[in-house]
Amino acid sequence: MYTTQLLTEATWPDFARLVEANNGVWGGCWCMGFHPEGVGKPGQTYEHNREAKHRLVAAGEVHQMLVYDGDDCVGWCQFGHPVELPNIKSRRTYEQAGDPPPDWRIGCVFTTSRRRGTGIASAAVGAVMEEIRAAGGGTVEAYPEQTVERPPQRGAYLHTGPEELFARYGFTRARQIAKWRWVMRAEVDPGSARIDRRGDA
Ligand SMILES: CC(C)(COP(=O)(O)OP(=O)(O)OC[C@H]1O[C@@H](n2cnc3c(N)ncnc32)[C@H](O)[C@@H]1OP(=O)(O)O)[C@@H](O)C(=O)NCCC(=O)NCCS
Repeated sequence: MYTTQLLTEATWPDFARLVEANNGVWGGCWCMGFHPEGVGKPGQTYEHNREAKHRLVAAGEVHQMLVYDGDDCVGWCQFGHPVELPNIKSRRTYEQAGDPPPDWRIGCVFTTSRRRGTGIASAAVGAVMEEIRAAGGGTVEAYPEQTVERPPQRGAYLHTGPEELFARYGFTRARQIAKWRWVMRAEVDPGSARIDRRGDA
């Protein structure tokens, strides 16, 4: 049974251990790609990205749900308001439609390499939806990859998750923004008080 916790200063060491065990994720992005700073510019090294992520967490500017197996952090789902996560995949095509921004968007999902296919991403997205409900709900967008009618994809290429992951939480296709990528949306009603996540999920 997996449990979930938000990424905060208190849980930063657990997150850092997971990222380090996976070579920084994508060689050292430290899950900065969707944040305003982005990755891949000169000077944005493994260490730089680590520090940048830690700074955002310390400033309370990151929404990210961590999944635990016992004390081990084994995966996450990043979410946030669009201004926190502007660098979505296929951004140019997405913005051409001129749609109003959603209340929330889901950025990247990640499961440690040896534990894929055991429901970790699913636990992460489920907890994110609860968190959004507790924060007042609203429109949530995700930008997942289509997997059906497509050659089988290794998990490594599903940064934003497979469609099936979001369909199980009520997301439906809104529009296509790349050959295999869709905007999916869900409406979350406001809900009751925040719950203690340890022992939950
Ligand atoms: C994509 C990824 C997050 C899936 O995580 P996971 O923990 O293995 O997923 P789950 O076991 O919770 O499965 C959730 C759903 O996705 C589907 N799914 C998972 N991997 C899939 C794949 N490779 N192809 C098709 N569907 C897949 C499952 O079938 C499941 O659907 P179901 O519940 O309807 O059966 C994982 O493979 C991963 O971390 N990949 C790397 C992504 C990455 O690099 N992220 C960082 C970007 S900065």
